[in-house]
Amino acid sequence: MEQHRERITTAIVTGAGRGIGAATAKRLAAAGHRVGVFDIREEEAQQVAAAIAAAGGQALALRCDVGRRDEVERAIAEVERQWGEPPLVLVNNAGVGGPFHRVDEVSDEEWDWIVNTNLRSVFLFARRLLPSMKERGFGRIVNIASIQGLLGSAHSSTYVASKHGMIGYTKTIAAEWGPYGITCNAICPGYVDTALGVQPDAIADYMRRVMAKSPVKRIALPDEIAALAEHLIGPHGGYINGASYTIDGGISAHVGITDDL
Ligand SMILES: NC(=O)c1ccc[n+]([C@@H]2O[C@H](COP(=O)([O-])OP(=O)(O)OC[C@H]3O[C@@H](n4cnc5c(N)ncnc54)[C@H](O)[C@@H]3O)[C@@H](O)[C@H]2O)c1
Repeated sequence: MEQHRERITTAIVTGAGRGIGAATAKRLAAAGHRVGVFDIREEEAQQVAAAIAAAGGQALALRCDVGRRDEVERAIAEVERQWGEPPLVLVNNAGVGGPFHRVDEVSDEEWDWIVNTNLRSVFLFARRLLPSMKERGFGRIVNIASIQGLLGSAHSSTYVASKHGMIGYTKTIAAEWGPYGITCNAICPGYVDTALGVQPDAIADYMRRVMAKSPVKRIALPDEIAALAEHLIGPHGGYINGASYTIDGGISAHVGITDDL
């Protein structure tokens, strides 16, 4: 049946040098996709691509600053040259949190860095890739947002704004490009065991507070997020479009005021 049709194709995962992106790239490669492993940290991207190759998969590591149009277009062109076809699967995962700041402490440079990396990137990749997905009648886009794309969070205003924007953009791509066989969905993780989620200088205190808030009393593993991305891209994901999936152990499901009664 059409809705269960497997489509193995060329994929791009951004920010795939470590964390959630690396786990996603490995999963997609294991499922048979050829994977462009994009990251601003080239060496890490190469290590992930080498691990994929060692496991029998196909991967191409490329340096790409996702907030810069020239680098995005150059890296996509390199993937197309290598494998002779346009990427039909895209996971916009590269993201930065930035320091915890009040709104009046955020500099222009910090705003531009976070918004360009987390949100402008989604526009740059979408504008470049959607026409070829439309031409092939198939596309799968997964945007790694955050529960901070659904809720406010003190001292993270720029990150929160960028992730809310990502979710709005996800819904709009879904509406605009769904008729051409293209789906676009967002994943909203809570706290994941990666370098971004746990800042080294505050690790013990941060972990204690996250565990206390989490109904399941742990943070997520990167592969738990990657598995959801794989589902949205895979043969059972075709009817899911414009959705935002919370995957946070229940953190955002409860107000918490009555917990101590
Ligand atoms: N870790 C969490 O708790 C958590 C929670 C919610 C959402 N997220 C989101 O998940 C995504 C992945 O984060 P992670 O936790 O794996 O973090 P991470 O820091 O381990 O990995 C992010 C990767 O993105 C790369 N990157 C950063 N800026 C880039 C740029 N300009 N161009 C290309 N690559 C760039 C980094 O080099 C790194 O390899 C992010 O979008 C993040 O906002 C993470």
